[in-house]
Amino acid sequence: MSIQIFHTDLYPTCFHLQTPGSSYVMGVSQDGLLIHLHYGAPVAQAENLTRAENSPWFPAKPGETLLDHVPLEYSGSGMADLRPAAISVEWPEDGDNIADLRYQDYALLPGKPQMEGLPQVYTEKEEEAQTLRITLCDAKGLQVDLFYTIFDNSDALIRRTRVSNKGTSPVVLHRIMSSALDLPDPRMELVHLHGAWAREFNEERMPVGHFCQCISSTKGASGHQHNPFAALVTPGCNESAGEVYAASLVYSGNFLIETDVDAMDQLRFTIGLNDWCFSWQLLPGEEFCSPEAVLVYSAQGLGHMSRTYHRLYQNRLCRGSWRDRPRPVLLNTWEGVYFDFNRDKLLHLAKAAAEQEIELFVLDDGWFGHRDSDNSSLGDWIPNEKKLGCTLRELAEDVNRLGMKFGLWVEPEMVSPDSDLYRAHPDWALCRPNRPATLARTQLILDLSRTDVQDYLIDAMSSVFESAPIAYIKWDMNRNMTEIGSFASPEKSAGEIAHRYMLGLYRVMETLVTRFPDILFESCASGGGRFDPGMMYYMPQAWTSDDSDAIQRLDIQGGCSLVYPPSCMSCHVSAVPNHQVGRVTSLDTRWNVAVMGGGFGYELNMTALSDEEKEVVRKQICTYKEDRGFLFTSELYRLEAPADGMFAYAQVAPDKSRFAVTCIRRMFRAQRAPLWLRVDGIAPDKQYVETSSGETYIGSELLSRGIHIVLDDVDFASTRLNFVEKK
Ligand code: GLA
Repeated sequence: MSIQIFHTDLYPTCFHLQTPGSSYVMGVSQDGLLIHLHYGAPVAQAENLTRAENSPWFPAKPGETLLDHVPLEYSGSGMADLRPAAISVEWPEDGDNIADLRYQDYALLPGKPQMEGLPQVYTEKEEEAQTLRITLCDAKGLQVDLFYTIFDNSDALIRRTRVSNKGTSPVVLHRIMSSALDLPDPRMELVHLHGAWAREFNEERMPVGHFCQCISSTKGASGHQHNPFAALVTPGCNESAGEVYAASLVYSGNFLIETDVDAMDQLRFTIGLNDWCFSWQLLPGEEFCSPEAVLVYSAQGLGHMSRTYHRLYQNRLCRGSWRDRPRPVLLNTWEGVYFDFNRDKLLHLAKAAAEQEIELFVLDDGWFGHRDSDNSSLGDWIPNEKKLGCTLRELAEDVNRLGMKFGLWVEPEMVSPDSDLYRAHPDWALCRPNRPATLARTQLILDLSRTDVQDYLIDAMSSVFESAPIAYIKWDMNRNMTEIGSFASPEKSAGEIAHRYMLGLYRVMETLVTRFPDILFESCASGGGRFDPGMMYYMPQAWTSDDSDAIQRLDIQGGCSLVYPPSCMSCHVSAVPNHQVGRVTSLDTRWNVAVMGGGFGYELNMTALSDEEKEVVRKQICTYKEDRGFLFTSELYRLEAPADGMFAYAQVAPDKSRFAVTCIRRMFRAQRAPLWLRVDGIAPDKQYVETSSGETYIGSELLSRGIHIVLDDVDFASTRLNFVEKK
């Protein structure tokens, strides 16, 4: 990694950020514009990029630059650049909407300066990273600081924007992007993840067009429909070849990713907060920080991009005592009993789990207030001792006596109209005063833009977490924001309240994860409705989807792995016929799909398993425990599946001394040719022993010819092969 500053005639100051596999070059023009000169494969002589003939946008006469044609690093509003701006402002005093950003100065900062109140990538040692800060200013006192951080041994580039009002009159921000990128070649395809409840993370790819394409959320959470991630790839780009420009936003609320190809075929790619209904007043002396955007350039396809995100997010975004620890095997009660339980039933389940040497028993929804369905009690975080037949502590201690830790489900951000909390504080709900509020799952959202509501939530959750020996918390959030407003500040825009909500939520989470450092927190939002890097900063794993069907999970987990480390994915083996899609798959296949290396467990009625099934489950758990250290730290290689509808991946130890290959078939087709699966990511010169057959293979053979895969002649068959280096 290095950041070089150099000077040329045309560009008095230039910046060159270098990662092992990328170069990022900017130059300040003579009239103070910050010009984007290159992002992509490493360049040896960045000076060459600044030749006059490489800068066709400059006219003969200085001062007559037509901004609309210039690759601007961070474009302002109201001027001659008519493409989507990076920042747009309004000065209410005189209605001026211009942000004419000119270069002021720069600073090279050791490590990565941290910001207050937002999730972010961090360093453990200052020498791991370097940061460049470039300051741009508008004559009215608007100051824009652009931050760029690069890490040693990573092709990630982390960007964020800080806006300060150094002037004498208020300014309103209508749009502030975390990163903007002007690329010269529009022949790109846009890859992103779309979905719905129980069908998250579907990969979609389409050509970038001469219009504005956007991926976004206005749901108040990053959402099921789109994920805050997109990549521009060269046509034909696959797992191991092709160029990728990816962007991922470290944020959990309303976001916006846009591509826009202009009349001159230039491609602008922006990512940041959604500007939908957004306005934020900055008084003189105030500042506003955008969330971080993590860009990754890969010249080796999507696989290198994914592993770059995985390493960074697993090691320098996730935090806390669980960051580096493989996770306990759990039993979650949700699909096993839903709301229908009492003490006997729970202990019966817990005993069955303990017999399988499960390590963590998680009580899901239904333990508090008078909640026997999803119609009531959110906000009343008082255990229903009548239903539980004891206190929460007694129940947890019973579970502990069986040799398991105890975990609990909460949905803290919500309030049911049928709750004592709502009856006492109807104005704590997030809604527009004097307007009807839409209920979803019979619930409203608490107004976390308010400090008093945040404080209440910190206290309420602290009381729950202290009330029993709780080792794990599943933090759920089950509805979108609608009619966004606050009784405390009715004049504020929906976009501002939604962002203030996120800042409030982050404060609540920061306080709780700091106060309860030993609890393993898992985030959830009706499955993967808020599976984003913002949440990962507080909670190192997330429930990937409410669809637990092994076959549908192939797309869900495969898509999720495009950005997110498998160590963050929670994946469970559930009952068949599957509760969401009715499909019947074998226990083997369900296990093969679930052992991605993150949160692993079972979500079924363990007491209903046959003896034969219990035996299989016992072996699965035993194998998982033996392998989880390796799985947790392994690197994921999605493999080109040998036949239609197959899904295959390799989990490879970082030192390549060991790997596992998993292959799952969707539909069986008669008369198939033998299946050869080429492995990726392993050492060509090492010899590996396949542990079930004892056969020895040379790495190069597995890389070039592949391994012959044998599957049962049925739908949904699967296999998992383990290879260890021959010493
Ligand atoms: C959400 C979660 C589920 C479960 C239910 C409980 O849908 O995603 O896993 O916890 O809530 O109500």
